[in-house]
Amino acid sequence: MLSAVLALAAILPAFVNAQGAVWSQCGGTGWTGATTCVSGATCTFSNPFYSQCLPNSNGGGGTTTPTNPPTTSSGPTTSTGPTSVSSAPSGPSQTPAAGNPYAGHNIWLTPFYAAEVAAAAANISDATTKAKALSVAKIPTFTWFDTIAKVPDLGTYLANASALGKSSGTPQIVQIIVYDLPDRDCAAAASNGEFSIANGGQANYFNYIDQLVAQIKPFPDVRVVAIIEPDSLANLVTNLSVQKCSNAQTTYLACVTYAIQQLNKLGNVYMYLDAGHAGWLGWPANLQPAATLFNSLFKNAGSPSFVRGLATNVANYNALSAATPDPITQGNSNYDEIHYINALTPLLSSSGFPPHFIVDQGRSGVQNIRQQWGDWCNVKGAGFGTRPTSNTGVTAIDAIVWAKPGGECDGTSNTSSARFDFHCGLSDADQPAPEAGTWFQEYFTTLVTKANPAL
Ligand SMILES: *[C@@H]1O[C@H](CO)[C@@H](O)[C@H](O)[C@H]1NC(C)=O
Ligand SMILES: *[C@@H]1O[C@H](CO)[C@@H](O)[C@H](O)[C@H]1NC(C)=O
Ligand SMILES: *[C@@H]1O[C@H](CO)[C@@H](O)[C@H](O)[C@H]1NC(C)=O
Ligand SMILES: *[C@@H]1O[C@H](CO)[C@@H](O)[C@H](O)[C@H]1NC(C)=O
Repeated sequence: MLSAVLALAAILPAFVNAQGAVWSQCGGTGWTGATTCVSGATCTFSNPFYSQCLPNSNGGGGTTTPTNPPTTSSGPTTSTGPTSVSSAPSGPSQTPAAGNPYAGHNIWLTPFYAAEVAAAAANISDATTKAKALSVAKIPTFTWFDTIAKVPDLGTYLANASALGKSSGTPQIVQIIVYDLPDRDCAAAASNGEFSIANGGQANYFNYIDQLVAQIKPFPDVRVVAIIEPDSLANLVTNLSVQKCSNAQTTYLACVTYAIQQLNKLGNVYMYLDAGHAGWLGWPANLQPAATLFNSLFKNAGSPSFVRGLATNVANYNALSAATPDPITQGNSNYDEIHYINALTPLLSSSGFPPHFIVDQGRSGVQNIRQQWGDWCNVKGAGFGTRPTSNTGVTAIDAIVWAKPGGECDGTSNTSSARFDFHCGLSDADQPAPEAGTWFQEYFTTLVTKANPAL
């Protein structure tokens, strides 16, 4: 005891005097480290969870984070006003384009998925199925940046998309999924990530975001549409009874806030926060808690103007508009994505959260295939769904998208694997299944043959 006190006394002065290095954290909820910065840097409020030592020379630009908590309506991107567009010579516009970000743009095709599909098609002997499979390579999907090692690919993609935009005369959209939270997938096991909160996860995540920003910055002519962190906020709405989720709550909020604030500064990244799906946050009891979380996160982040709305049904199987309710949805009047979206929209207005949506229909072609609504892993009998389009017929829905690249596995069925999740061993889950994210040939072939509309 005494020695512990002495030891503490010995380190205390050093601790109090310590000053944060440039770019280091210097404040935020739960922060116990240095709150002042080395000479030449100023501790600058970023959000309730994070203040950062910014170099003083960085203070003059139009995109600096505010030095006061953004409790007023003026967020980081509006502080210089919309008229700053013409007075910011080299930077991209900080005012989002009016209306649907997909309008007037072509969605760039990711060569990674195209290569996966080409390899898969090469292994299909039936000529008709092979031709259908090959056609999938022309359908745009999102690219999941689920590890930091993949981030450099983004610059390559953007360079290619930029060149294509110039040569074709049609501006391009590159679709990405930001997906690398520390203690990721806190209520399940199949998609646990590379960073852990106990081991510097928040700093690692901020670095991941900084690297994404650095890749995007040279290409202001390419529009990026980003889905932010599938499942994470929904887990905070319904799964705080899971210890890993309650433990991750503050970190998830800090990380998502950091992600949207940093990406917002670029001026060409349109963001949709993941909002689960009808069978998750769409239950009447979950709608208001979900809206409250989106509203407060958005407001606390300074109402970033490039947050365009919410993404629903990511990697799930729900219909956008079901002809008849799937029996498993019984008890929920919001039995498909359109009912969910219509129920959630009015609850978002209190914060000014933009009520726009994109909806994943990549694997929603066949309905009534699940035994429980919560079954999400490689559900048997699924088919590719409605093709991506921004012509949705619904004002609130900017686009139908394919967020999950069909054929990439949801999770392994190997019960001995560290990432085995019981959902992947259920009788409605296709087996044997490889690890999450790796190619699942048999599953892809079924998606092709059961596609609706047909390929
Ligand atoms: C295609 O078949 C070859 C030979 O059977 C195999 O090595 C390869 O892994 C298969 N590729 C896919 C995508 O299934
Ligand atoms: C873009 O990528 C495609 C496919 O990988 C390639 O064929 C094309 O040459 C690239 N274009 C440019 C301009 O880099
Ligand atoms: C997470 O919440 C969902 C929705 O309420 C629930 O179905 C699921 O069982 C929860 N997961 C865990 C591990 O508790
Ligand atoms: C299942 O996972 C265990 C542990 O990683 C591994 O040793 C085993 O080879 C795997 N089995 C199959 C069939 O892949």
